[in-house]
Amino acid sequence: MRYAAITDRLAGLGGAKWEIHYRARALQAEGRDVILLTVGEPDVNAPEALITAAEAAMRAGRTGYADGRGEPALLRALSERYTARLGRAFGPEHFIAFPGTQTALFAVLMGMTETGCEVLVGDPMYATYEGVIRASGATPVPVPLRAEAGFRIQPDDIAAAVTPRARAILLNTPHNPTGAVLRASEIEPILEIARAHDLWVISDEVYEDLVFGPTPFLSPLALDDERVVVTNSVSKSHAAAGFRSGWCAGPAAFCARLLPLAETMLFGNQPFIADMTAAALRAPDLVAEGLRARLARRLALVHDRLDGVAGLRVHRAEAGMFALVDVAGAGRGCGTAFARALVDEAGVAVMPGASFGEVLRDWVRIGLTVDDAALARACDRVAAFAEAQAARA
Ligand SMILES: Cc1ncc(COP(=O)(O)O)c(C=O)c1O
Repeated sequence: MRYAAITDRLAGLGGAKWEIHYRARALQAEGRDVILLTVGEPDVNAPEALITAAEAAMRAGRTGYADGRGEPALLRALSERYTARLGRAFGPEHFIAFPGTQTALFAVLMGMTETGCEVLVGDPMYATYEGVIRASGATPVPVPLRAEAGFRIQPDDIAAAVTPRARAILLNTPHNPTGAVLRASEIEPILEIARAHDLWVISDEVYEDLVFGPTPFLSPLALDDERVVVTNSVSKSHAAAGFRSGWCAGPAAFCARLLPLAETMLFGNQPFIADMTAAALRAPDLVAEGLRARLARRLALVHDRLDGVAGLRVHRAEAGMFALVDVAGAGRGCGTAFARALVDEAGVAVMPGASFGEVLRDWVRIGLTVDDAALARACDRVAAFAEAQAARA
């Protein structure tokens, strides 16, 4: 049988990145005690109030087809939130509802880029970015994120990577996996580069409410109303990833142009989930508040227990759900070799940095979403493992 080229472009993306995770699961199934620090999901269930809101909406008959752009109440809640946070007026015409950030990213890229285009994206990057860029036919152009610059994408590095084929810059602030939060002094020149070369700027802001460092979050959308498109959801902020409720926010002209694509893909999404999301956006963000405090505390715990131990170095993230640890000095090879040996010999599963890009080949990513006691036990195992390597060397 014959297949479309998109299946070739996406073949092989994904699976290999999760090698350690699958290995850990297999070891657990054999009865081994393995602490899983590979994934980043909020450590609590979706709040009772949101489950009640979705259930009440279903019982009230909100189970039919929805408006293709998003239910009016949800679009009003989004308009209020963005008007309040960004300091200029947003209305329903600036949004399209999607089932999660992932689908929003897919549609936004399909609406902007195609074969022959390039999309500039920080390296390391979130695991699905290469796929969503390639799905559109475009080619990802990795822009190295340097540890010395706090892993924040630097305008000069973007400028150096722009070619006549460039169509868009994909930003992720706060960033997964590094937890970096872009400064105004970086966003402004990036927007200038985008204006000079007529590029779109996509800003994936799924960790917006999980900033615990000193730098406040700033959306590029606050500084430009022509070429910035934001993607976001309630997955992280409200521990509601399974509801699959997200959106894109951007210029009215862009949303009008994208709407037929969204309707072709989805034919609207679920009214009871739209009602739950509107309630979530209007309620005080208690879930995010609790998560922020726990994530900051656990990052400090990892730092206290591992930084400086047997050559390990812990990066100080400012946001998000992960700690990055530089294992180059630990004498067990690159991050992938370290993670493979760690899961087998010490019963701790972490993600190799290389799963997110070559820049992190000497790093591993530790999820901060297990409870403090399990994380402390995991850190003790990592420290003992690293010390054993150092003693052998
Ligand atoms: C940077 C980033 N973008 C997007 C997503 C997907 O979010 P959603 O659940 O809203 O599709 C994730 C999930 O981990 C993420 O880390």
